[in-house]
Amino acid sequence: MRKSLIKDDILKEICKGKIVSGGLLASKLGVSRTAVWKAVNALRAEGYFISGEVGGYMLSPYNTRLCAEQASAAIEAENIIFKNETGSTNEDVKALAEAGEKEFTLCISCRQTGGKGRLGRVFYSPDGGLYFSLLLRPRLSAQTSLKITTAAAVSMAKAIESVTKQKAKIKWVNDIFIKGKKVCGILTEGVFDVESGGLKYAVLGVGVNVATPKDGFPAEIENTAGALFETSTPPSLLYFALVNEFLKEFRAYYENIDLMPHISEYRERSLLDGKCVTYQKDGKTHKATVCGIGDEAELIVEENGKRIPLSSGEVRITDYE
Ligand code: BTN
Repeated sequence: MRKSLIKDDILKEICKGKIVSGGLLASKLGVSRTAVWKAVNALRAEGYFISGEVGGYMLSPYNTRLCAEQASAAIEAENIIFKNETGSTNEDVKALAEAGEKEFTLCISCRQTGGKGRLGRVFYSPDGGLYFSLLLRPRLSAQTSLKITTAAAVSMAKAIESVTKQKAKIKWVNDIFIKGKKVCGILTEGVFDVESGGLKYAVLGVGVNVATPKDGFPAEIENTAGALFETSTPPSLLYFALVNEFLKEFRAYYENIDLMPHISEYRERSLLDGKCVTYQKDGKTHKATVCGIGDEAELIVEENGKRIPLSSGEVRITDYE
């Protein structure tokens, strides 16, 4: 058996939270105990925390190296595709959607080389982050993808609060902030059905800066970007808890998404209320004050004594970004 296959098979066996003896691994895989021992040592050298020696082996839940086997065992989703590195998980899920994969297929990665942000921007996606995309097949019109994005923002804010015990705020539409820094971005991409005018499918992508990147954030975002943990990479346990909490919250909202069940929790976490902002419209920069969030998650601003609803785009906080 090829060395890399032995390693993958060993990971599958030892990621379930129980110690598995070297003898059992050897007989299951049809290799010698020495081959098992060598493969375990090679995995350790790659950064996997594998406990045990005499009694057997177990992949520690405090392991800091994410892997497919542990992700499949720990994440409560039926259909998970895990990639150590990918271009963009949103692009991966689009391909899966076109191939007919079912709703709630989840693609998760530790690093993206072509991470996509909103408004055609790049989303910086180095190691230490959590990048995932979910396939949705909602029965909604094109305009209502704002409902998905805002439900996802509340779900991720709640997941972050539950796992890190830090208060998370939402900057309309879909950025999550902790202590004044953006720690998470969300990008929902819809593919439309020309005949019905509705969504054929949607891809919901979430990127979280879990740990501060080894070399810091690039200069263009170093003043605005932050991470959930400032120190070294946290254990995989935490990454999976974030995904599980997110899925639990999001699934509950999604059942009745048309009714916007998340809107009051979205409002509670809004970062922008009362703030002076600027935004671009018709080639002009507008200055306004934020009044609140409307029932369809539109941002209500006051400009020259008039209330204006904004349902797309982006605002900047004056003297802030
Ligand atoms: C933004 O802040 O502008 C949105 C960022 C969304 C990033 C996530 S990471 C997972 C998924 N794959 C991508 O290429 N983008 C989204």
